Amino acid sequence: MAEAQAQQRGGFAEADGGLRYEVDGEIATITLDRAEKRNAQTFATWSALARIGENMPEQVRVVVVKGEGPSFSAGIDLRMFTPEGVPGEGSFGSTAKLPNETFEQRLGQAQQGFLWLRRPEIVSIAAVQGHAIGAGFQLALACDLRIVADDVKFCMKEPALGLVPDLTGTKPLVELVGLAKAIDICLTARIVEADEALRIGLAEKVVAGGDLAKAVEDKIAELLSVNRDAAVATKRLLQGARSRSLEEQSRAEGLEQAKRLRALFG
Ligand code: ACO
Repeated sequence: MAEAQAQQRGGFAEADGGLRYEVDGEIATITLDRAEKRNAQTFATWSALARIGENMPEQVRVVVVKGEGPSFSAGIDLRMFTPEGVPGEGSFGSTAKLPNETFEQRLGQAQQGFLWLRRPEIVSIAAVQGHAIGAGFQLALACDLRIVADDVKFCMKEPALGLVPDLTGTKPLVELVGLAKAIDICLTARIVEADEALRIGLAEKVVAGGDLAKAVEDKIAELLSVNRDAAVATKRLLQGARSRSLEEQSRAEGLEQAKRLRALFG
């Protein structure tokens, strides 16, 4: 049905990996669609995400990532911890036997599913309700903005399971909340609820569960109200700000502005 809807709107759908995907003009929506398993993620999920990123139509300016059902995502599929693993994908037991290079390659492919969500050409929004655990938390962290329902429960469960978070989540977490708070959150694997998420900068906005879709729609309207090329250039500037000195950043502002002025008035 998602496919039919997407085709009607001139978009297209990507149904495997437990995902639904539709494009409606400047807005793309990716829905984790395995509510009965709390949107648990597998390598197929991350490959599908990466393919969506690779094939994102140029006109798209906003990408929404959301989850069906009571939870945004319960993280990696727990079958990975069993000897049988996930059919067609193996298990942590089989992954542990891979040569380093093969493991790095496999993880690198999985990470591609997350990294593209930071591209300057788009703004990505995670709409998060209920649990966002492990890979689910990291998927929310991969997005530029997080709008959350008041029942949200973020949890970086990996250290409790003997693992590290490796789906690109550690850098955005530290950048958002600072090193001490990131250590507190990850090394206790505790749950961060809505009030705290808002207070420490993990969430931009908290709304009642029933208002989540509307809050996301409102944010999209705000984002689409500014000039597209200026938005892309500004996001590029903001993303580079931390790694540049004040002088370098000022120069970068000038270079971007010169391009804008030429485009607008040249
Ligand atoms: N992988 C596979 N199946 C899962 C997962 C998961 N991560 N999480 C939930 N499910 C399944 C359950 O087994 C259950 O299936 P069943 O109906 O066939 O028995 C179904 O989803 C519903 O789960 P419940 O636990 O009944 O749902 P509830 O809403 O009460 O709880 C919660 C949700 C808190 C998310 C709970 O399911 C949970 O703790 N899941 C595991 C979370 C976890 O440890 N994830 C790994 C993090 S580490 C990482 O991502 C790298």
